[in-house]
Amino acid sequence: MKKISVGITGLGSYVPERVVTNDDISKLVETSDEWIVTRTGIKERRVADENVATSDLAIKAAELALEDSGLDADELDLIIVATATPDHAFPSTAALVQKNLGASKAAAFDLSVGCSGFIYGMVTGANFITSGMYKKVLVIGAETLSKIVDWTDRNTCVLFGDGAGACVLESCDESFGILASELGSDGLNGDVLILPAGGSRYPATAETVKNKLHTIKMDGKEVFKFAVRVMEKSSMRVLEEAGLTQDQLDFFIPHQANMRIVDAAMKKLQLGREKTHINMDKYGNMSAASVPVALDEAFREGKIKQGDVVLLIAFGAGLSWASIVMRWNRRDRDV
Ligand code: ACO
Repeated sequence: MKKISVGITGLGSYVPERVVTNDDISKLVETSDEWIVTRTGIKERRVADENVATSDLAIKAAELALEDSGLDADELDLIIVATATPDHAFPSTAALVQKNLGASKAAAFDLSVGCSGFIYGMVTGANFITSGMYKKVLVIGAETLSKIVDWTDRNTCVLFGDGAGACVLESCDESFGILASELGSDGLNGDVLILPAGGSRYPATAETVKNKLHTIKMDGKEVFKFAVRVMEKSSMRVLEEAGLTQDQLDFFIPHQANMRIVDAAMKKLQLGREKTHINMDKYGNMSAASVPVALDEAFREGKIKQGDVVLLIAFGAGLSWASIVMRWNRRDRDV
């Protein structure tokens, strides 16, 4: 049977207009632009307006990805939305996107894998295509983390931002597309990054609201150590699975959480800064949106060329990680 390769045939991203700088945050908590920049690499982030939800950002990114792919929404077979900030517990954010796009024949579901969600979504979508069940899959990573951040906690509120990125997956020429992938989970250490209340363990009560249990709780140091470890190890494993060595890697799209984490991974992989695209200075950590927004920008800026070996990698809540190595199937985009 002929092998089916899966590649990206459309990309799009969207971030809200409102910019919140480090100086703005230093008016809310005891911090400084200098501390945030040196410890994280983040200078500013985008924050959605009060009446804007995750699906609103997801729909905008999806429309751009569809336009880029040349497909109509009603040609889509499946929509996957990776998010830690769904509009509601149900219906899924993917179903809201489906409704708004008019993607009448698409199946739709959400994935909850924190910052690793977009890559989990790509692997899931690609497997639906290689199995022959579907042909055209839209994968979106979208977040409004500003809604679940405790704006009085300087350990977390400086880190996150809102945004959305999307890609269309279809079969492609067999020498291109996804070459190898890895999905990982370390549930034993999941409590170092958690939004405790609002689910069935601690349903919303006046007490949970008073105790701010509906906001992100994170042991930054533990997440940091985990991130550095998996970024290196998973990158090496996925390259090996693809039969490649690190010197054959042309471009690296890491989850944009902290510049020190990215630098540590790039050092281990012996990659120069010219082989990556960094946007955390502008957007902070957009969780599941981080990788697709960086990928869209890098491609739009002509940094990724047809035939390049590109590695996508992320880590996040779960704890989880995910990586993909692909041979870029698209010609340079007209800009
Ligand atoms: N401004 C000023 N001081 C601060 C701030 C701040 N915003 N935040 C913490 N500090 C203080 C701490 O209170 C501490 O003070 P102390 O020594 O008096 O106790 C000091 O700075 C050092 O704090 P550390 O936690 O040791 O700082 P560290 O260098 O580890 O940086 C950070 C903290 C940026 C959170 C880092 O650990 C990190 O990036 N971790 C990874 C987080 C991450 O990537 N999360 C991604 C997953 S998110 C998802 O999936 C949704």
